[in-house]
Amino acid sequence: MSENMVVIITGGSSGLGKALAQRFIKKGATVVLIARNKQKLAAAKDELLESCKDSSKVAVFNCDVADFSAIEKTFKDIIDSIGKIDILINSAGILREGYFEKLPIEVFREIMDINYFGTLNCSQAVIPFFKKQGGGRIVNIASLGGRFGCFGYAAYCSSKFAVVGLSDTLRCELKPLNIKIQLVCPPEFDSPMVDDLNTYRTEENRAVAQTTTVLSIEQTADEVFTGIMRNRYLIIPGRISRLLDLGNRWLPAISRAVVDYKIKRVYRGASD
Ligand SMILES: NC(=O)c1ccc[n+]([C@@H]2O[C@H](COP(=O)([O-])OP(=O)(O)OC[C@H]3O[C@@H](n4cnc5c(N)ncnc54)[C@H](OP(=O)(O)O)[C@@H]3O)[C@@H](O)[C@H]2O)c1
Repeated sequence: MSENMVVIITGGSSGLGKALAQRFIKKGATVVLIARNKQKLAAAKDELLESCKDSSKVAVFNCDVADFSAIEKTFKDIIDSIGKIDILINSAGILREGYFEKLPIEVFREIMDINYFGTLNCSQAVIPFFKKQGGGRIVNIASLGGRFGCFGYAAYCSSKFAVVGLSDTLRCELKPLNIKIQLVCPPEFDSPMVDDLNTYRTEENRAVAQTTTVLSIEQTADEVFTGIMRNRYLIIPGRISRLLDLGNRWLPAISRAVVDYKIKRVYRGASD
C-alpha cells in the first residue's frame, strides 16, 4: 500500500476508528473521518493533528451512515475535495445490551440501521469510485459477536452476523473487480462504547462476554492495522479470541457447555 493512500473511516471520531486513523496517519496516509457529532469530529481532528502537523492529512465529514442518500453525497464530496479513495473502513457502530424480551423492537431496528445498513450503505456508495479507479479495499469492523451469539446481545449479534454474511458474500463477488474485502471480528476492547455498556450491562452478559480478557484499544488497533496491511481476510485480535473462535467452529458443544456453565454460576450467585 502506498504512502499517499486515502482512507475513509466511518466512526473515526472515537474508539477503534480513531485509533486506526492514528496508525494510518503515521504511515503518511490521508484520513477522512465520518461520524454524526461535529464536536467529537473536530476534537478527533485536533488530536490526530498533534502527531501530524499537515492539516491536509485529516478531513472530517458529519453524516449518518444509516442515511444512504446522505452517505452517497458525502462520498461525492470526498472525491471532489480529495480526488480518490483507497480504503473504506466501516467502523461506525452502536451497542445496546439487555434481555431479549425487554429490548424494544425499535432498538433492533436502530442497531440494524447503523451496524448493518450503515456498512452496506457505505460499501454501495464507494463501489462506483473503486470501479472507476480500478480497485480498492473495504474493511468491515464486525465483532466476535458476529461469529457466535452472546447473552444479552440479541440485537447486536444479529446486526454483526449480518455484517459477517455481507462481507463473506462481497469477498468473492467483488474480487473480480479488484475490490478487496477484509473482515475484523474483535472481542471486547476498552473504548467509550464499553464504558457506556459497563453502566448498565447484565451480569450474565459480563460473565459470558468477558470469557476473553478485555483487550486494550492499542493492542486491538495494532493487530487490526497489521492484519489490514498483511492483506488478511479474517482479522481476530487477541490469541484467546482466536482460540475461542476455533473452539466454537470445531467443538461447538463444548463452547455451549462453557457458556451455559458461566450463566448458571451467575444465577447460583444471585440465589445465595
Ligand atoms: N468496543 C468493543 O468492545 C467492540 C468489540 C467488538 C466490535 N466492536 C465494533 O467496533 C466498532 C467501533 O467500536 P468502538 O468501541 O470504537 O465504538 P465507539 O468508541 O463508541 O465509536 C463509535 C463511532 O461510531 C460513530 N457512529 C455511531 N453511529 C453512527 C452513525 N449512525 N453514523 C455515523 N457514525 C456513527 C460514533 O460517532 P457519532 O456517535 O458522533 O456518530 C463514533 O465515532 C463498532 O462497529 C463496534 O460494534 C467494538
